[in-house]
Amino acid sequence: MTHWQYHNPVAMHFGAGVLEALPRVLAGRKASIVTFPEAEAFGLLPRLRRLVGDSLVGVVDRTEPNPDVDGLGAMYRAFWREQAASEVIVAVGGGSALDTAKALMVGTESGEFDALVSLLATGKPFKPHRVKKLIAVPTTSGTGSEVTGWATLWHRAAGKKYSLHLPETWAEAALVDPELTLSLPAGPTLAAGLDALSHSLESIWNVNANPISDQHAIAAARLVLATLPALMNDLSNIELRSRMSLAAMTAGLAFSNTKTALAHSISYEMTMQHGLPHGIACSFTLGMVLGRAIGASAARDAVLARVFDVPLADAPAYLDRFLESLGVRTRFEAYGVGAAESERMLRDALEGVRGKNFIGAATGANARSSQEATS
Ligand SMILES: NC(=O)c1ccc[n+]([C@@H]2O[C@H](COP(=O)([O-])OP(=O)(O)OC[C@H]3O[C@@H](n4cnc5c(N)ncnc54)[C@H](O)[C@@H]3O)[C@@H](O)[C@H]2O)c1
Ligand SMILES: [Zn+2]
Repeated sequence: MTHWQYHNPVAMHFGAGVLEALPRVLAGRKASIVTFPEAEAFGLLPRLRRLVGDSLVGVVDRTEPNPDVDGLGAMYRAFWREQAASEVIVAVGGGSALDTAKALMVGTESGEFDALVSLLATGKPFKPHRVKKLIAVPTTSGTGSEVTGWATLWHRAAGKKYSLHLPETWAEAALVDPELTLSLPAGPTLAAGLDALSHSLESIWNVNANPISDQHAIAAARLVLATLPALMNDLSNIELRSRMSLAAMTAGLAFSNTKTALAHSISYEMTMQHGLPHGIACSFTLGMVLGRAIGASAARDAVLARVFDVPLADAPAYLDRFLESLGVRTRFEAYGVGAAESERMLRDALEGVRGKNFIGAATGANARSSQEATS
């Protein structure tokens, strides 16, 4: 690699209690709040209403996990009919709420969501007819959506997913307040944390990696490996929550410039066909994918070696043990996927858009079969 560039335009505000900076960041602009349904019961939505004050135009709190284009049409139409006056969306929630907000912020001429889906289906960049600004406030530590320019929109009925990715869909600012993650139960905490680990490793074994994304990725992966097991035993520990929030955001900074690779490419089918949460679907194969990455490039091996405190050759088994110790099964068959299906899934994933970002070949010196038993 001789030439490279790194770009991330999001202003990052970080720390326990930093949500209180929202009025200053909004600076009097008219705002809509987009959040998850439980935010009212947690007292989060009342707090947000207080912080936005007289600038509040409206609230969307019926967002759903893994936003599906089939469920977004009515929400989108109502949003653009009733909240057209807002200048900024304050998106507060996990990746699902943040990605829903990114879909809502892009306005079509007709105000209909189908028009946006048609544009996404072309897979080509487009200039939005109108667009709102975004302030992203994550309440999970995982997706990094607060510092990436894209949103994942699912279409389960068609077995597809769309990636919304425009210069306009980066957040203007991210308020990353680890206190907001304290209410997240164990299951989503684990899935989100492993999503962050996956983002960091995927940005290293990636044809788009550069020295800045590598630095972020190494730091993020090491922080997840050192923090997540302790957090799973102590979910109300704000120090550990803070480290995971930092790790997830830092992983976001890494993959915001590289996109993901093979583990994510495999994950989409595992989520759509086998119902795995995103963070589990994109992490249970990490040991196997690492085995395929090692040996593809001496330069990439050197970066990967800096992630692990064990020799790189031992790292795939180490990763499998790390995941299994957190209760994540690392073999396809544990999810009811047999040998022939997993081999087919792997071949398809390598041919997918994200799979093509992967540095390794379908079979590498250290590659293991997708079914090979873990130690
Ligand atoms: N845009 C990106 O860069 C990007 C990257 C990775 C993943 N994603 C997407 O993000 C989604 C997954 O996001 P996620 O892992 O953050 O989970 P999520 O947003 O789906 O949230 C999981 C559940 O936890 C609830 N929740 C969220 N915050 C909470 C809190 N603080 N306390 C209690 N409950 C809370 C949600 O309402 C939901 O029911 C997937 O759809 C995935 O495709 C996007
Ligand atoms: Zn992910």
